[in-house]
Amino acid sequence: AKILLLNGPNLNLLGTREPEIYGSDTLDDIAKRLEKQASEKSHTFEHVQSNSESTLIETIHQAARDGVEFILINPAAYTHTSVAIRDALLGTQIPFIEIHISNVHQREAFRQHSYFSDIAVGTIVGLGALGYELGLQAALNQLD
Ligand code: DQA
Repeated sequence: AKILLLNGPNLNLLGTREPEIYGSDTLDDIAKRLEKQASEKSHTFEHVQSNSESTLIETIHQAARDGVEFILINPAAYTHTSVAIRDALLGTQIPFIEIHISNVHQREAFRQHSYFSDIAVGTIVGLGALGYELGLQAALNQLD
C-alpha cells in the first residue's frame, strides 16, 4: 500500500529546533528510517514537509487521487488552528494517525486542543522521534 508521511510547519528545523523538546534527530533521519521500514514490508512510502497550509491541503487531495491508503501526520502548529487541513482529511476519508514529538499535554494551554484527534485512527504524543516509527507500525497493522 501507499503510505504518506506529512509534516507541518517548522519541522524542517528538527535537529536544531529546541532540541530539549524535539530531540536531535533531523526530519531526514526520521523519514529515511520510515522509508526503510515501509519498503522492507513492500509498501510505498512518500514524505512531504511543508510550512504552508495550502501545500499540506493540496498534498492530501493529491494523495487521494494517487490512492494513498494511510497517512501519518504531524500537523505541528496547524494542529491547534487548522479546520482546513481537518476538512481535507475528512473530505478524502484517508485514515490517519496524528503524531506529536513532544507531550503537548504537558505544555501551554493552547497546545491542548487538536483539530485532528477526534477524527484520527489514533494519536501518539510525547515519545519523541520514536513516535513516527510506532505510527508506521500501527499503520502497517491497520493495513494488514
Ligand atoms: C508538535 C507540537 C505542536 O504544538 C508544535 O506547534 C509543533 C510540533 C510536536 O510534534 O510535538 O510544531 O506537533
